[in-house]
Amino acid sequence: MFKITYKEEICPTIFAMKFSAPFVARNAKPGQFFILRVYEKGERIPLTIADYEKDEITAIFQTVGLTTYLLSYKDVGEYVSDIVGPLGTPSEIKKYDGSVVIIGGGVGIAPIYPIVREFKKLGNKVITILGARSKNLLFWEERFKNLADEVLITTDDGSYVIKGFVTDALKILIDRGEKISQVTAIGPPIMMRNVCNLTKPYNIKTIVSLNSIMVDGTGMCGVCRVEVGNETKLTCQDGPEFDGHLVNFELLFERLKMYQAEEKMIMNYLEEKRRILNAN
Ligand code: FAD
Ligand code: FES
Ligand code: MG
Repeated sequence: MFKITYKEEICPTIFAMKFSAPFVARNAKPGQFFILRVYEKGERIPLTIADYEKDEITAIFQTVGLTTYLLSYKDVGEYVSDIVGPLGTPSEIKKYDGSVVIIGGGVGIAPIYPIVREFKKLGNKVITILGARSKNLLFWEERFKNLADEVLITTDDGSYVIKGFVTDALKILIDRGEKISQVTAIGPPIMMRNVCNLTKPYNIKTIVSLNSIMVDGTGMCGVCRVEVGNETKLTCQDGPEFDGHLVNFELLFERLKMYQAEEKMIMNYLEEKRRILNAN
């Protein structure tokens, strides 16, 4: 059992939650994740370790389906039944001559935080691009401004700073002649694919963090398999970070839809139950 020590809805549908998990916190490295079960018979879901300090880990999650909703109903002082981690291969962090551009889109803004911190520790020039659908879904702006050399912000609807997508901000950097040694992009798979399509002709090394469906998270079930450079890889062990120019994104999109019918069915059932409860 792992205790919830902090909970905040940082913007609509997005929650920050801290768990007391000393082993995970003391061993975590940027780019790694953990697997959580809310209750003993529940499904396992992977969440990125968005921060780690002393005995606590922070997760930032968006409510998209049954398990993330159940987690959001939990309060400080309550427990989740399991946390396993840290899992996955940590990000490769090194000193570059040119700048490192780190992009977070949507809830993907959270996992880039420890990566930005480590690149800065090694003395890199780090430019961060944060993308959200709308201003009210943007979080941690100040946190990144205190850390990165430059922060560019985009909103799809133009409600804040640059109207457009993270690729528009990246194009601004490329067009102004910024010498970019590496781009890291974490966010919705379509965003990561679009970033790769933009950087490929410029031959800019681009790392993406894949969000394949996972079960055990330790390389045993094969559910998280992806195709990278025509080879089958396991996201939970070989990743989650891969060279984005080698990823077969079409296959990833297909595999993410694997349980969509069941996920939709359970959400419809929950909605119906909620409607009946509210009506009585
Ligand atoms: P469901 O309705 O069951 O699923 C909604 C969608 O989430 C599905 O269509 C599918 O694309 C995906 N999904 C469903 N089950 C799983 C599963 N077992 N494993 C992976 N994806 C699944 N989300 C965050 O909000 N914050 C994070 O920090 C974060 N980090 C992640 C790190 C990794 C390495 C991976 C692989 C995924 C991460 N995700 C993160 C995605 C998160 O795991 C899913 O949003 C969550 O599992 C959805 O579960 P659900 O029951 O609420 O929704
Ligand atoms: Fe089972 Fe990766 S989640 S092998
Ligand atoms: Mg689910």
